[in-house]
Amino acid sequence: MTDVHILIAIDGPSGSGKSTLAKRLAKELGLIYIDTGALYRTIGLHIQQKGLESTDTVNIINALSEIDITMRLENSQGKVFLNGNPVGDEIRTPKSSIYASDVSKIPEVRTFLLELQRNIAVRNSVAMDGRDIGTVILPNADVKIFLFADDEDRAERRYKELIAKGTNVTYEEVLNDVKWRDNNDKTREIAPAIPAEDAIMLNNSGMQEDETFEAALKIIKDKLKL
Ligand code: DC
Repeated sequence: MTDVHILIAIDGPSGSGKSTLAKRLAKELGLIYIDTGALYRTIGLHIQQKGLESTDTVNIINALSEIDITMRLENSQGKVFLNGNPVGDEIRTPKSSIYASDVSKIPEVRTFLLELQRNIAVRNSVAMDGRDIGTVILPNADVKIFLFADDEDRAERRYKELIAKGTNVTYEEVLNDVKWRDNNDKTREIAPAIPAEDAIMLNNSGMQEDETFEAALKIIKDKLKL
């Protein structure tokens, strides 16, 4: 597969398991894994560190001129750097999720990150996960999967992930965050988190990681005639 250029878009709401799936697919198929949510989270982190509110649109747009975001490929994954420094788990807190979702509604922020995402896909075969990969970033992707699940399923997965990392949250908080963020991401005016017309819908409510992976791999193999 190495000499063929393959683009796989995995979109869907938070907690649907996009990143786990995209990472595993990338490994299986020899692609680079790109987590585009990390880019919005990184902008959110900078805004948070500056002490700005996540809804302070004018100042957020002004702050973009001080932000340099790059992605370097390490171990077949895109690692994010903010002004030359690697970004870590500080972008994964519940507060960072709110900041990421809010800054992602600003058209200037989306434009700021557009070329970076597309350039990676021009040069590499990728499994890219996000909200608008199939609709805006890679409209010509070879396979588009929209992964979704019930709110409670998604909240439970996210809750377990956060607890495993030692984050102090309750299930209720995570469920509320999942619902709030879905609504925020779906109802924004620009690049709302909705499926592309040609996306294949995959509902993984009640499914284990392995089952989701097998189902997605089958979709890809059928589509690419592998
Ligand atoms: O995938 P994630 O949960 O890490 O993404 C964090 C936020 O970033 C999400 O709430 C909406 C935004 N986002 C986006 O608008 N477009 C993308 N392609 C990826 C993420």
